[in-house]
Amino acid sequence: MTSELEPVDIKTILVAVDGSEYSDKAVQYGSAIGPPLGAEVLLLYVVPMLVSATPYHDTVSDQPFLALQKVGEDILTRSKKLAEENGCEVTDLISHGDPASRIIEIAEEREVDIIIMGSRGVSGIKRLFVGSVSDKVMKDAPCPVLVVR
Ligand SMILES: Nc1ncnc2c1ncn2[C@@H]1O[C@H](COP(=O)(O)OP(=O)(O)OP(=O)(O)O)[C@@H](O)[C@H]1O
Ligand SMILES: [Mg+2]
Repeated sequence: MTSELEPVDIKTILVAVDGSEYSDKAVQYGSAIGPPLGAEVLLLYVVPMLVSATPYHDTVSDQPFLALQKVGEDILTRSKKLAEENGCEVTDLISHGDPASRIIEIAEEREVDIIIMGSRGVSGIKRLFVGSVSDKVMKDAPCPVLVVR
């Protein structure tokens, strides 16, 4: 029987990181499957913000922004190191805004073939089956989502 399905070619993998143990596990999966597939592995952290950009900068109101930015950079540095320890070169990306929306937008922009993320994250509140970011990405992503647990 012949299939009309296109062969699967995973060229770009997007790993969403938030610094949690679940996020580290997502990095482990990305590092395990990226190199054998010859895929580019992107690590993305979204600095959670109500507005996606600050229209102007001043030293006082920028302080919370800069602190969050620094947290994000540290999470990316740690995650990148973890991937590299597993023999996987990665490109790190930082973005700002609503985490789930930005993950979905970046997956679209970069024509990502699969998103890897944790079932839960830093908050770990067990009111939902999975965290709210995973829940939203699973619903609206333009590609398959691997949710690690
Ligand atoms: N700011 C973020 N940037 C990038 N990826 C994120 C971000 N927040 C969460 N993720 C990804 O989503 C996964 C699940 O986290 P999520 O935030 O959904 O759960 P939670 O923190 O336990 O609960 P919630 O945030 O809904 O209270 C994380 O393991 C990570 O892969
Ligand atoms: Mg969270």
